[in-house]
Amino acid sequence: QTVALETIVADKGQHRHYMAKEIHEQPSVIARALGAWISEDRTRIACAAENVDWARAPRLTIVACGTAYYAAHVAKVWMERVARIPVEIEIASEFRYREPPLPDRGVTMVVSQSGETADTLAALRYAQSRGQITLGLVNVTTSTIAREADVILPIHAGPEIGVASTKAFTAMVFCLSALAVLIARKRGEIGLDEEHGYVELLSTVPRLMSETIALEPQFEALAHDIARSSDTLFLGRGLMYPLALEGALKLKEITYIHAEGYAAGEIKHGPIALVDELTPIIALAPFDGLFDKLASNLREVMGRKGRVALIGDAEASRDLAEEVWRRVEMPAVDPLIAPYIYAVAVQFIAYHAAVAKGTDVDQPRNLAKSVTVE
Ligand code: AGP
Repeated sequence: QTVALETIVADKGQHRHYMAKEIHEQPSVIARALGAWISEDRTRIACAAENVDWARAPRLTIVACGTAYYAAHVAKVWMERVARIPVEIEIASEFRYREPPLPDRGVTMVVSQSGETADTLAALRYAQSRGQITLGLVNVTTSTIAREADVILPIHAGPEIGVASTKAFTAMVFCLSALAVLIARKRGEIGLDEEHGYVELLSTVPRLMSETIALEPQFEALAHDIARSSDTLFLGRGLMYPLALEGALKLKEITYIHAEGYAAGEIKHGPIALVDELTPIIALAPFDGLFDKLASNLREVMGRKGRVALIGDAEASRDLAEEVWRRVEMPAVDPLIAPYIYAVAVQFIAYHAAVAKGTDVDQPRNLAKSVTVE
């Protein structure tokens, strides 16, 4: 297989691992994606999906694997809230075998950093066989998915060498958020002023990610405690639920510690039986509209000796500071862009826990950067 230009191995710079370099690169990656996805006058979203008939599309189906699937999960919240378009998200390895009915004039988007994931490519082909308009949101623009999709949407993350995806995840989330704004305009849900407001909101992401990267020493200290555990839980609500899933995936794939991500409201339906004084519970807790519900979920956990590490802003910390085991104070941000900075938090926690454990951070056991076979 020819090595695509985008995967020419870059150097690690002053970093010990590619993953560390790629975590730190994220503000500039998002700044580059901003430049590619917004209009010259910086007032509107502009991308190759402009001419899709979004106004008449009854639904958007998004299909992906792993971290890309969690980016799709974030997109579902953005697209349903901002563009009011029904969104189905699907795990690629399940999708085609169910032979799901797909609506006329439906749009199916596959999301893949490598653009070579076998299940995601097969999902693209299934959607095309069912007459869908197909979009491919990819990092490697010379990949098979990029060649076969009707519309290519590049994420501009640059070569991602670490097997554990970091900058590609946040770049996917950014492009999906920008696409949600474009779809909202095309469906008449927002006017140009509101679109400009979203562009301005997205333009704050690089600075806020840099502010969060500066908190690295606090994540490192927390990670050293977590590195000693055998099981962990990540909890979040709303947009923080897919971030809990992503945080658990990052931790398990590079430290080999068993980790699960849950919607915090779900713990009463079983997972709370896992809570004891040994299992760290990482709570992703921006002070948003769901915080009070999250706080009561966390109090239930702490009432059963659960050790809660609160990753939250000042308002959240003020409410729970005296009760939690550990906490890192995050920048206060608009809830819609919280995924970007909480992604940095869970990436650093996984990275430093792996360094503490001495595992192979960039090439963890049993994993490949792209799963090109089923
Ligand atoms: C992410 O950290 C993992 N390496 C893995 O879940 C990955 O996201 C998944 O295999 C999908 O890869 P793709 O984006 O290249 O399709």
